[in-house]
Amino acid sequence: MDLNDVRVGFIGCGVHATEVLLPAVRRAGLDLAAVCDLDKRLAQRMTRRFGAYRSYQDLRRMIEEMDVDAVLVCGPPEMHAEAASIAIELGRHVWVEAPPAPTAAEARRIADLAAERGVLAQVGLMMRFAPAYRRLAEVVGAQDFGQPVSLEAVWWPPERSGHEEPLIHDLPHMLDLLRHLGGDVTQLGTVRQDDRQASASVVLRFASGALGSLSFSAPSACPRERLTVASRDAVATVEDRLALTLRRRDTDETMTWRPGACPGGVESTMGHLRGYLPEIGQFARSVLGEAEPAATMADAVEAMRLAELVVASDGEMVTVG
Ligand SMILES: NC(=O)c1ccc[n+]([C@@H]2O[C@H](COP(=O)([O-])OP(=O)(O)OC[C@H]3O[C@@H](n4cnc5c(N)ncnc54)[C@H](O)[C@@H]3O)[C@@H](O)[C@H]2O)c1
Repeated sequence: MDLNDVRVGFIGCGVHATEVLLPAVRRAGLDLAAVCDLDKRLAQRMTRRFGAYRSYQDLRRMIEEMDVDAVLVCGPPEMHAEAASIAIELGRHVWVEAPPAPTAAEARRIADLAAERGVLAQVGLMMRFAPAYRRLAEVVGAQDFGQPVSLEAVWWPPERSGHEEPLIHDLPHMLDLLRHLGGDVTQLGTVRQDDRQASASVVLRFASGALGSLSFSAPSACPRERLTVASRDAVATVEDRLALTLRRRDTDETMTWRPGACPGGVESTMGHLRGYLPEIGQFARSVLGEAEPAATMADAVEAMRLAELVVASDGEMVTVG
């Protein structure tokens, strides 16, 4: 089976979908049957641009008439939850942009529904699929790296449309990556700027015993992204998803690794480096039963729960129940 055997419908043809996600769906080679948007002319334009067969304004009709295997969803968070629920109720696998719902509790309801219906629910937690972070996961997971004792993240994302509450909407991306690399978080504490919800310094304690820190500020005029994982024997850092450096105790060398351009060429490379293209490929392979589900709705629930605790903590260490 190849990825063209996965027949998908896409709902929400806004900026992010047309600039990043629909190109990734095409590049990954999925069979894009139809697109859907409330804006009829926009949906028609995107049908032509991305070579789908039909456009819709109603999700149920798209699913029933085009008999898709899976639905990809990208719009406002309330629409994510509603569209995902409709698709799951109709027995379709879903991939949903993050955040998949306005709250962790609502995301959990979708996870439960997907489990009940026996379909996949994957979330656009694309950072863990970025080639640089995949390489980091391999490096820190190798025996010669040693047990991680510290994870230190700096994430200052740029302004994005649809992200009025960055602590709730953006922060789960980095929290998911920290969980992915460091395991479960048992405690966290936050200091926030008094009058701005969008800047926070967070300390984290992991179940493994490792400690973490996260500096978050959004929107940032000068975006930054850096993640360092250290053990007693080695230190690995990823900068801007573009380079990984590794230093080890008994050498005076620093090794540097950089992800290569995407086989699809320059126009696909950004989606590849940011993690969207590999994530959509992974989703399609999971639909085919050829890959383990990853970045699941349950992962999103955990990352969103942590983000909600970051907002609630207000200087005190809180236990993650
Ligand atoms: N813009 C970015 O840089 C960026 C980056 C990463 C993630 N995101 C996420 O992507 C999502 C979309 O962001 P955007 O900037 O593309 O927004 P947007 O406003 O440009 O697009 C949203 C689209 O969804 C459509 N829509 C809304 N409700 C619908 C419904 N019920 N049925 C069908 N279509 C519906 C709208 O008509 C619109 O075309 C947001 O959740 C955002 O968090 C955006």
